[in-house]
Amino acid sequence: MAINIQLPTFDRSQARYQQDFLEDKFTSFKNTVNNPNIGFFNIINDESLVTECQEIYQQHKKRVKCFVQIGIGGSSLGPEMLTSAINNSGVQFLYINNIDPDELFEQLASITNIHETLFYFVSKSGGTAETMASFAIITNWLKDQGITQKELPSYYVFGTDPTKSDMLNLGRELGISCISVPTNVGGRFSVLTPVGFLPAIFAGQDLTSLLAGAKETRESILNNKLEENSLFLLASYLDELKSQGVNQTIFMPYSSKLRNLSFWFVQLWAESLGKKYSLDQKEVNQGLTPIPAYGATDQHSQMQLFMEGPYDKVFFMLEVENFQHDYSLENCFGTPSLVKLSHYTLAQLMKAEFQGTLTALTEAKRPFVHFKMNKNCEHNLGALILFFESLTALMGHYLNIDPFDQPGVEAGKKYAFEWLARKR
Ligand code: PA5
Repeated sequence: MAINIQLPTFDRSQARYQQDFLEDKFTSFKNTVNNPNIGFFNIINDESLVTECQEIYQQHKKRVKCFVQIGIGGSSLGPEMLTSAINNSGVQFLYINNIDPDELFEQLASITNIHETLFYFVSKSGGTAETMASFAIITNWLKDQGITQKELPSYYVFGTDPTKSDMLNLGRELGISCISVPTNVGGRFSVLTPVGFLPAIFAGQDLTSLLAGAKETRESILNNKLEENSLFLLASYLDELKSQGVNQTIFMPYSSKLRNLSFWFVQLWAESLGKKYSLDQKEVNQGLTPIPAYGATDQHSQMQLFMEGPYDKVFFMLEVENFQHDYSLENCFGTPSLVKLSHYTLAQLMKAEFQGTLTALTEAKRPFVHFKMNKNCEHNLGALILFFESLTALMGHYLNIDPFDQPGVEAGKKYAFEWLARKR
């Protein structure tokens, strides 16, 4: 696999690391990913989804300098993670993923030329209140600037379920191109579909490489011997830690470009694994709480708690071995703190802080897993994405819950609409 995963040494005498147990989990995992209703693992082989996006790109590429994605949850976090990790094109990206009127005002004000802008509205269900509210506002805003309803197809693209959704119907009515968010891929698992593909293409990313990385992960999950298979061993390790009260997962890349990977992971882990009922309908209130972090910045913030606070956290530490740029720290000053740095480069300082933290964590007996990618590139990102999606699906089996639904967010939505109805 493109990503190197260094797991700690386990006590292999425990049942959860033994062949029979792992084989049982492997069978359950395979049943899940071969279930036609759960598409995230196999959808990476569907070339037609890439083609759909490339066709849209060809239509708009000459004029677009600003790409605005409107969506929430899985319809925003994955794409934002991708384009903040790699933007080779210089296109400006804006993510309208909340309903804060003041933020929206600023975001719209930052669009300097509508004629160079593409608005990509994404809602798999096609009726999410936040996304539809932004649609109404942006359409009015464009109208105020002389763009008629007839002209909207030149500025708008929709991403939605290709079989049934309000957005699909609206797109057909208005003549707006609709690209597919596959019915069998849930929002938080959808970054490797047109949800993430279209912005990635506009960011100049190589989708073949992105998908090749994901395919490499898929192959290694399916073909590596179970006693060496990082996915299953890691899930068993997390299960062991959970039995010891470690139920918080810190996701910490040492890279600002990958900071949004933490936020993407947070949604994936939290919305998938936090569940009231088990598969056999018992009330269990399960979950592993994700904590977003990034290095080295969080060494001066959350790290104090992580190192010395409760023994309830495991770290996913992500190292990027090579950066695209580097700076010498050589300088002509005699100030001790500057002299100390002057023989090194900035990338070396980052590496030192990463390694230093691993050593400190070991000394403090804080559990961690070391993920290493040789560089931040499409191939490695694709590999990482499919690994964490697969880990999430697999943890569903360990926790005995359904990682693909989200009943806990429905009640809040229902009460919000009741509240609005009372205001009329
Ligand atoms: O993971 C999920 O299913 C959710 O977070 C959705 O992505 C989110 O609610 C947005 O849904 P939709 O794309 O249908 O507007």
